[in-house]
Amino acid sequence: MACRLEEIAEIGDYVEYEILGRSVVVVRTGPQTVKAYHNACRHRGMRLVQGRGNAANGFVCPFHGWCWNTDGSNRFVFAPNLFKKDQLEDADLRLRECRLETWGGCAFINFDDEAPPLRASLEPFATYHDAFRVEQMRAESWLSCVLPVNWKLACEAFMEGYHATQTHPQLLARSVKRGYGAGTDTVGFTDPDDVVGSSIYFMKVLSEGMGNGMIHTKDIAVAEDLKAMPLPSDPMQAIVEWNTKLNAEIVRRSHDAGIPMPDLNQLVATGHVSSVNYGFPHYYLLPVYGNAAAYRVRPLGPEETLFEIWTTTLMPEGARHVPPRAPTQMAWDDPRWPDVVRQDFANLPRQQGGLRSPGFDAMRLSGEVEGLISNYHRVIDGYLAGRSHAEILPNLSQVSGGIDAPIRPIAWKGEAGARKTGRADRSRDAGGPEKPARRSRARSAAKSSRAGAPGKRGSKKRR
Ligand code: FES
Ligand SMILES: [Fe+2]
Repeated sequence: MACRLEEIAEIGDYVEYEILGRSVVVVRTGPQTVKAYHNACRHRGMRLVQGRGNAANGFVCPFHGWCWNTDGSNRFVFAPNLFKKDQLEDADLRLRECRLETWGGCAFINFDDEAPPLRASLEPFATYHDAFRVEQMRAESWLSCVLPVNWKLACEAFMEGYHATQTHPQLLARSVKRGYGAGTDTVGFTDPDDVVGSSIYFMKVLSEGMGNGMIHTKDIAVAEDLKAMPLPSDPMQAIVEWNTKLNAEIVRRSHDAGIPMPDLNQLVATGHVSSVNYGFPHYYLLPVYGNAAAYRVRPLGPEETLFEIWTTTLMPEGARHVPPRAPTQMAWDDPRWPDVVRQDFANLPRQQGGLRSPGFDAMRLSGEVEGLISNYHRVIDGYLAGRSHAEILPNLSQVSGGIDAPIRPIAWKGEAGARKTGRADRSRDAGGPEKPARRSRARSAAKSSRAGAPGKRGSKKRR
């Protein structure tokens, strides 16, 4: 994900996106059109832009002043008589375009022109979030930090809710007595007041803990107004009725305010209940009511990761809103981070350190709820092994979606399907294409994990 489209709202607005030494400029060329160019002057390679700005008057290279229009065509060469004619042919002077597609209010780039379309690569994640109308959500805050860990470790910290009991005890203090995964009888409510009290408590703690992300203060205000409503004496019925009425009231008030809120009870009825979802390779959306937090995870080096968090929400249609133009940068351990995020970040450098210990040889994943960590590593292994896009695409749909997923089959055809790229040699260093024997070991590991067998590996980590 290279930028949110609202960052480049005006024609000519551009933003530079950097990843692992490559720089791309994403620019709005029209009300509905956005393009990306490799950020290198066609004269002698200078980066044309840094940061963000508006190029309505073109991109002017600071070195010798050559200039390009936002459609990529060259508009000016200083002293062209000093060059041969065939050095300055229009088609050859154009800025080199980088593949760009849009979805969910964001621009995504891809350095691989042969990769499948973005939309197909992001399913079922994309369709799931269309139902929440994430494309229409607007950013209210944008924070970033550099974490001293591998980018995959940062991603994995959000792939399961299993850590919540220990890492975020405040989220469970009232609503769940025995903790995540302790069985079905975990609610422990005794009466409707407890249902309402726990619900509002949870909404407040999550809202504060996510910096007004996921749950918004406007949702809490609705819940506070409803808290005196009569509910059935049976706590389980009370939970259902409370949530149904709260959803309906949030929708009603939103529509009165011109906010394009989807029918929240319809979303629940159609299974849209996962509030933390992963979009391979480096994007997360956390939708609740008419809001979503978004994470973008970017490697800066082997053990250095740029982590960014947006809070976004649906606003009245046509409302004037100025989104944050740049992230507020903080240290990963800055006490100003909202509680939940700070708790997640605090685990990461310790885990990265532990991975190097001779006392650690492999992760021991729950095949029930930590399977996504295994699944996405096996997809990454497929890329490293030079597997064809046709093989990778169906496997992508096994990883982009809700967290807490079980281990799923990641299916590869025979070695003949591998793409012929120079990466094959490197991938062997990293473990290489899966041999049949390894595949069967992986399957039996998955089975063992599902059965909860002690001492078996869910996924071997290779870093
Ligand atoms: S390097 Fe850009 S004009 Fe010379
Ligand atoms: Fe967490």
